[in-house]
Amino acid sequence: MAQLDAALAKIDANLDAALQRLFALVSIPSISTDPAYAGDCQNAAEWLKDELHSLGFEASVRPTAGRPMVIAKAKARRANAPHVLFYGHYDVQPSDPLDLWKTPPFEPRLADAPTGTQIVGRGTSDDKGQLMTFVEACRALKETGDFPCDITILLEGEEESGSHSLPAFLAENRDELRADVALICDTSMLDRATPAITTMLRGIVTQEVVIKGADRDLHSGLFGGAAVNPVHVLTKIIADLHDENGRVTLPGFYDGVAELPAEIAAQWREIGFDGAQFLKDVGLSVPVGEKGRSVLEMIWARPTCEINGIIGGYTGKGFKTVLPAQASAKISFRLVGAQDPEKIAANFRAFVKAHLPADCHAEFMAHGGSAALQLPFDSAPLTRARAALHDEWGKEPVLIGSGGSIPIVGAFKRDLGMESLMIGFGLEDDRIHSPNEKYELSSFHKGARSWARILTALGAA
Ligand code: BES
Ligand code: ZN
Repeated sequence: MAQLDAALAKIDANLDAALQRLFALVSIPSISTDPAYAGDCQNAAEWLKDELHSLGFEASVRPTAGRPMVIAKAKARRANAPHVLFYGHYDVQPSDPLDLWKTPPFEPRLADAPTGTQIVGRGTSDDKGQLMTFVEACRALKETGDFPCDITILLEGEEESGSHSLPAFLAENRDELRADVALICDTSMLDRATPAITTMLRGIVTQEVVIKGADRDLHSGLFGGAAVNPVHVLTKIIADLHDENGRVTLPGFYDGVAELPAEIAAQWREIGFDGAQFLKDVGLSVPVGEKGRSVLEMIWARPTCEINGIIGGYTGKGFKTVLPAQASAKISFRLVGAQDPEKIAANFRAFVKAHLPADCHAEFMAHGGSAALQLPFDSAPLTRARAALHDEWGKEPVLIGSGGSIPIVGAFKRDLGMESLMIGFGLEDDRIHSPNEKYELSSFHKGARSWARILTALGAA
């Protein structure tokens, strides 16, 4: 334990320097979905490679068809140490709407809030701050002796845009990446005082649909009434995707969706989640999901269909009396249980086609997807991590679900036969994917301390 104590003291003493490093990484606008930022993604990958190299990792930036991967490897000096694969992502979501940011998204800063100091900037929580908690833990362990485990680090640059290059990359590098357990940092705590291990994630299907009508934009006075309006067609189809009880109407959508096992339902009741407060925190009061379900069920255990974006017609300043030639929407489905992403994508496309009136046709684009995930909650690494988290936070960690999706976790299991442990220090109010994203300084600091403890616990004989 002497080394762990020294490592924890190092993390405390080096917090300011660690923050400067995080600021440097957050300053790089590594937005993966927009090709204009491909160079920045490359820069973020190079920055991380250099950082890991300086900690004694054999580190490289590996090109893919999309954004590069960073791979870093270090071995414990002792033989037969367990091997962990740590995963994080260095890409971030677009920062728009820009005018809602109090300060520029890629100029990170500290802000004082009633609950404590916050680190503000795009990617501070999702996922640069989180992945740097692990890197800082590695630094402290290295500086105070040795790594307790053999460590491979995989940092992806396309998580926020569908992980397109991932399946091929995993297939090609299977042997290099396979470890005893994968550690995923891209998740949340229950609340600012209570650590959590996430054992359930929702899956996702993303579909973009374009509906086309006339062969050009038309004058809405001269043609309106006679010519089909693709915006009307699209919005009607979208409205028909839900019934009056909040259920999704796609045929077969609920195949593979089971009721929550009693044991999990009981665990979740103990968590004491306050659905009304959860909505109140974002200015809402009435849940809109399936009737008769609790808010926690709605976000952790039930599937959804959400319109993420809708485009059509004139949206500029002033007014234009146009009857648009096309309209499009970006739609995602969150999946649970055994719902099949491919089947749902196919059913959606069939649904749209079946609802098209004469003279309209539809084009589709997919942006990646993944099935829902259920991890074991009694594995040996989980038990060790639980104790390590308890030591840091002075509180038993809870096992939680999450409504978000991390496509790689399913691929680790499917393609590499590897279980994952999902531990992160994000908070519900971190505004990930929103303006003014933040990460708590306490998450950053105690997150690094937690990883030092978890690595030590996993490496113990
Ligand atoms: N970190 C999030 C997912 C998350 C957040 C999981 C909090 C658990 C707790 C991740 O970066 C994310 O947003 N993923 C996308 C994936 C999609 C673009 C394929 C998502 O869930 O929307
Ligand atoms: Zn993330």
